[in-house]
Amino acid sequence: MPVTIALKALTADEVVARLRALRTRQPVKFWAFYSSQLGGIVTDPALMVVPFDDHMVHRGHGIFDTAAIEAGKIYDLEAHLDRFIRSARTSKIQLPARAEMRDIIVRTTAASGRREGSIRYWASVGPGSLGLTPAAGAEPGFFVMIFAGLAYPDTWYTQGLRVMTTTYPIKPPLYAVTKSTNYLPNTLMQMEAQERGLDNGVFVDEAGNVGESSNMNVAFVGADGMLKHPKFDHILSGCTSLRLLELATRLQSRNLIKGVEVCDIPVAEARAAREMMLIGSSIKVAPVVEWDQRLIGDGKPGPVARALRELLQDDMRSARERLIDVPY
Ligand SMILES: Cc1ncc(COP(=O)(O)O)c(C=O)c1O
Repeated sequence: MPVTIALKALTADEVVARLRALRTRQPVKFWAFYSSQLGGIVTDPALMVVPFDDHMVHRGHGIFDTAAIEAGKIYDLEAHLDRFIRSARTSKIQLPARAEMRDIIVRTTAASGRREGSIRYWASVGPGSLGLTPAAGAEPGFFVMIFAGLAYPDTWYTQGLRVMTTTYPIKPPLYAVTKSTNYLPNTLMQMEAQERGLDNGVFVDEAGNVGESSNMNVAFVGADGMLKHPKFDHILSGCTSLRLLELATRLQSRNLIKGVEVCDIPVAEARAAREMMLIGSSIKVAPVVEWDQRLIGDGKPGPVARALRELLQDDMRSARERLIDVPY
């Protein structure tokens, strides 16, 4: 933060100039932003702002979701909207109608001109006070950002990731299944891993079963050849995992797995897995080769993680019923 010698009251023009200067010091890959508060779309990142008194900003009372733009089409938006609507219900946040949200998302994507990238959208209770409960008469906000998406190193796919069991407690189930803007445990988990020279962390629940990673689900190929995924009652229902669990049955006929199971996975059983992988909209599917300094399988990326990644890539390009055309 630069040292401010003289604090002066700023004009609106000076505020915009300083917001632009901020973006010059720290460029971002944000291409289009819709805000119900602005009532339109902006493409200048300096103008992609939310009032400080919005309940999402100062109390973390907001929800979000992220979908992908692949080859000029939006992938699996309906699954992401389903989860967004569930998160809104548990967070007591009022949303625009589903068709309206879909239309705004598609038109903001078109305004970005981008054919590859990510769409993140948020809902908030709105501004109006710094109180704990929403301000009387607060107008709910809906926001959509088209951006470059999260980039992960190629080595995560070619050599695999190294992870640790986090020392941070897993969120209680209600908060874990709700995609709220409170990602403090998730953020601290990934920072903790990076501080130790590792790639990410894994939450384990109080019963000693595997939960999930920071912004990704975790799955295994057991010693018995079954593809195993933790139950979704205490972790986020990953749209990517849910789709891959359907697609994975195709790997049975190729003799890569014996079957698919969604079940509690005790850590001791998970450590004996042939393969471990992280799954999500941003990471897609990436192999984990080391967990708490112990090798998974032979310590090399395995064939099931690779095959699942290929199935997902193919689905993102060719599953017509899951793709929305963008009117660029
Ligand atoms: C905590 C958490 N778990 C899992 C996932 C994976 O979900 P998806 O496949 O819908 O990206 C995410 C990402 O949204 C997440 O934030």
